[in-house]
Parts: sequence; C-alpha cells; structure tokens
Amino acid sequence: MKKMRTLAIETSCDDTSVGIINFDWEVFSVEKIFTYTQVKEHNIYWWVVPEIASRLHSDQIIPVIEAIGFEAIQSVDNISVTTHPGLPGSLLVGETIATLLWEYFKKPIIEVNHVIWHIVSLFLDRKFSEIVFPLLILTVSGGHNDLYLVEKKWTTSKEEKIESNEIIRGNLKIKKLGTTLDDAAGECFDKVARMIGWPYPWGAWIWQQALKGNFNDKFDFNRIWLSKKAFDFSFSGLKWQIHTLIKNMTKDEKTLTEQEICDIAYNFQENVVEVLSKKLLRAGMLHQVKSIAISGGVSANDRWREYVNELAKNKQRLKNNQPKNLPLDHERNFELYKPIKKLYSTDNSAMIWVAGIIKERK
Ligand code: KG4
Ligand code: ZN
Repeated sequence: MKKMRTLAIETSCDDTSVGIINFDWEVFSVEKIFTYTQVKEHNIYWWVVPEIASRLHSDQIIPVIEAIGFEAIQSVDNISVTTHPGLPGSLLVGETIATLLWEYFKKPIIEVNHVIWHIVSLFLDRKFSEIVFPLLILTVSGGHNDLYLVEKKWTTSKEEKIESNEIIRGNLKIKKLGTTLDDAAGECFDKVARMIGWPYPWGAWIWQQALKGNFNDKFDFNRIWLSKKAFDFSFSGLKWQIHTLIKNMTKDEKTLTEQEICDIAYNFQENVVEVLSKKLLRAGMLHQVKSIAISGGVSANDRWREYVNELAKNKQRLKNNQPKNLPLDHERNFELYKPIKKLYSTDNSAMIWVAGIIKERK
C-alpha cells in the first residue's frame, strides 16, 4: 500500500517545528524535521514571553518551511497543524502558514489538539502491533498532568495486540481518568529551578543538579497524594514548601550553598517522580490494564524513566500506603512504553501528524 506523508506544523509555545512524517501502515517515521528553538531569546527573561514567542515564530516559520523544501511539500498528502491549546499569538502563526500552504498546494488541513498528540507520540518509530492494550498513559508537561485510559473499541478478539490499520480507523477509546488540580509537574520543575537560581529552560537543569545531590532530611518535602482524588495531581504544595524554606533562609540572611541547591533538586525530583509513578502504577492495578506509558516534556527526565521502569518491571508491594484507597499489590509486570526518543517527549511537529492521521480516519 502507498505510504502516506504529511507536513506537520507546530508553533504552540516556544518551538517553531515543521516536519514531514511518513506512515507505511505499520510505523510512523520522521522523514525530515526542522525546529527553531527560542531558548536563547527567552533565557534573559527567565520565562517564555508570549509577544516575543509569536514574533519569533513569524520570523522563523518561512526559513523553517524553506528548509523542508517546497518540492517535498508538493508531494505530501495533507497538512497537520496544532490549533489548541497554546499561546494564541503563536498558534496563529502556524494556522496562518497552514492556510497559505493549503491555498497554494490544495492539500487538506487537519487541526490537532496538543494534548492528544502527547498520547500518540508513543506511536512514533514503534510498530503498533507491539503495543498491548488496554493501556494507561500519564502525559506530564509544562501545562498538564493527565491520566488517560486507552482501550480498543471491540472486545471479541482474544488477541490483545492491535494492528495499525485498526488504530487509524479510529478504533481506540480514550477516556480521561485524572488531571492537574493546580501546577503541572513540568511547571513545578520550572518554578523550583527558578527559585533555586537558574534561568530558562529549567527541567533538564534540575535533573543535572540532582545527579550531584543526596537525600537530605532538611529537604524531605511532604508528598501530596490526594487520597480522595487519587487520579488527580497537585504539585503547588510542593512548590510552596520550597518557597517557604527559601524565604525563611532569606529572612535569616542565609543563602543556599551549592550542595544545598543540588540536594533540593534531588529531593524535589524524587518527590515528583515517586508521586507520578505510584499513582500511575496503582491506577493501572485498579483498572487491570496490560500496559502503562509516560509521555510529555517531563518524560524526557531520565530519573523518572528509570524509576517508573523499576516499578513496572518488579512485582512488589508498593511501600508508603498512598494513595490510600487503591490496591497495593503489584501482581504482574506491566509493559511500559516511553516515547522512543527524548525528542518525542517534548513538543515537536512529528507528533502532530501522528495525531492528524488518527483523527482524519475516524
Ligand atoms: O510537553 P512540553 O515540551 O511542553 C508543554 O506542553 O508544556 O513540556 C515542557 C515541560 C517543561 O515544564 C520542562 O521543564 C519539562 O517539560 N521538562 C523536563 C525535562 N525536560 C523538559 N522536566 C524534567 N526533566 C527534564 N529532563
Ligand atoms: Zn506539550
């Protein structure tokens, strides 16, 4: 069967990313991808400044499209573009260029939801037939932590695996089980990094500092389990514990030593990865899924990848009886999926198209 190819455009936040993605009815793979990252321009403000982001998207979108090449664009089957959620001025740049290309090349446009493509990023470079359902996936980004149960729509087959054709015909049922009540985990990585002193981008910086840090009683912050809302997530309390600690030190005219910064990063990161992983695992036990998965920007964190891997693979009784009302015994090994490349964890245009084709076929 003929390969399908799309041009994918992502400008929802601080990356101008355009790619051509192939689908050979078995695997989604990246043919070309060009991304302009705005890190250095936002760095001095310690934050993504929306006006600067949209201006840079406007400046960069044409060079990035040119890098892909008009000849390549002429031969794609369709154009996929992120239309929500995101920074309005930034989204508008992607939508405008998609409309121009649609008018010029007469290719259909597929509008894609950012959050859904964090789910389907799992499918990039991986055979669908390897994925075992039902699947429970936790997507953790700068803006959300969402827990989704992904099931097949039919129940007749004993075979648990699903073929790619079946997925693109829209035979997946996606149900949201839990969500962010306040700061998302990625946002908390960002804010804590700023508090302990490092400019944007922050998530990976915390991980680097944590490598040099140790467990330290002083920084053993409370874990927020939300026993009554076991599938929801709250990280603003953790942020406030760190904020208060630093404020009290400032009052006493103390500053953090380098080792204390690393210890805070270590203890903070352990806190977040434990809460995320145990909630995911225990939701998996309750719903008796076959496999679990992580995605979104925070899934680029090596410590989270390692921690959740250990939990998923080792049959064990989960310690720390939290959240209280969920099963404790981990009776089987779960299959665990992570985006194959770290590039696929964070925002990028490749995932847009995977979402685009699944949506189009429904
Ligand atoms: O999915 P994403 O690229 O964009 C949004 O949809 O928000 O996620 C960005 C978030 C940021 O908060 C960033 O700090 C976090 O992902 N992040 C990380 C790491 N790399 C990115 N957090 C922890 N460790 C990392 N290595
Ligand atoms: Zn994202």
